[in-house]
Formats: sequence, C-alpha cells, structure tokens
Amino acid sequence: MLKIAVLVSGGGTNLQAIMDAIDAGKIKNTEISVVISNNAGAYALTRAEKKGIENLCISPKSYESREEFNKAFLEKLNSYQVDLVVLAGFLVVIPPEMIATYRNRIINIHPSLIPSFCGTGYYGLKVHEGVLKRGVKVTGATVHFVDEGTDTGPIILQKAVEVRQQDTPKELQQRVMEEAEWKILPQAIDLIAAGKVQVIDGKAVISE
Ligand code: GAR
Repeated sequence: MLKIAVLVSGGGTNLQAIMDAIDAGKIKNTEISVVISNNAGAYALTRAEKKGIENLCISPKSYESREEFNKAFLEKLNSYQVDLVVLAGFLVVIPPEMIATYRNRIINIHPSLIPSFCGTGYYGLKVHEGVLKRGVKVTGATVHFVDEGTDTGPIILQKAVEVRQQDTPKELQQRVMEEAEWKILPQAIDLIAAGKVQVIDGKAVISE
C-alpha cells in the first residue's frame, strides 16, 4: 500500500480528483494518510474532512521565521511516514531539507507544458495569463518529481490542451484542469503505486 501525503494551499480540485480516483479504483493500492495545508482557509481541508481523511494546517504565520516554519512542517510530515508526497496546488517553496529527505518521492502538478510557462512567478492563474499573452496554441499540464529547482525535476507525465482564441485566463485554467490535471495527477500516482516509475540519469522512465 502506497501511503501518500497531499499538500495543498487552495481549492483542492486536484485533491478531489485523487480522492475520486482512489474511490473509483483508478488509483490502486494507495491511501491518503494526511492532507496538509499552509493556509487555514483552504477549501481543500474541507474536502478532506468530508471524506474523513486526516487534515491539518501548518501556517508560516504561526512561526517567527521561515526556517522555523520549514522545520515544523518537515517534522509533522515525517511523523506520518509516507512513501510519497503529492503537491496538489501547494504554493509554498519546498525547502532543500525536505527535498533531500524525500528525493524522487515528491511529485508536483504544474498547469503548463514544462519547460514553457514555469519557474519562479508562474503559478495558478499567472501561468494561463502568460500563455494567452504569448499566443501559443497549445498548453497543458505536467506532473514531475520535485528537485532543488523550480519546476525543473524529472517529468513523469504531460498532457496537451488546445488554447482557444476567445479564452479568458479562468476559462483556460478550468479546461487545463478538466482535460489534463485531474487526469494525469491520479494516473501518475497509480503508476508510482504500481512501481512503474524510476528515475534514471535524471529522467523519469515509465515501464509498461
Ligand atoms: C492547479 O491548477 C495547479 O496546477 C496549480 O494550482 C492549482 C491548484 O488548484 N499549481 C501551480 O501553479 C504550482 N506551480 P486546486 O487547489 O483546485 O487543485
């Protein structure tokens, strides 16, 4: 059984997609041990609560420094002894100690086709605003392992989504979620639970 922690900051639609996929048997051999938010108002916590999944908030506001917050966060996370950490709209920069502790065991969903529209400053709606401003015709989403860079880790899965002429950033965000994020994030977790994802020479390799 793959034990996972899901880290969230906001609405939690990706968390919902993971919970639904577990219920539907699309993610097999996996259980969510805990959902952790940095933001007490995150609706994602309510979604977890409704499912009876353990959930909690660790807010940077409760700590005097970022170092103290990072330490408390990592200690809490470690206490659940999970196999995989899933960043599902988690907008906090992951500190190096956590990356080292969970090397190739943290995955993130990013709402673009990496290496486009990613890196510092590209998160949430800002990604889709950048896509529309540049006028690209295809965007999408990426699931990748987290390394020390921002959105630079080994790519596990990607899915393309068409950009429409009339799209607003919100409309595009919604379509990228529906057509790509809510599919490839559960799919990546299922592949990892089945032991089918390995990192070789800095690249994620999926076996059949
Ligand atoms: C999602 O679109 C996710 O890809 C994005 O935040 C949103 C969270 O939505 N993540 C990033 O931009 C990370 N750089 P959700 O809370 O409804 O899952």
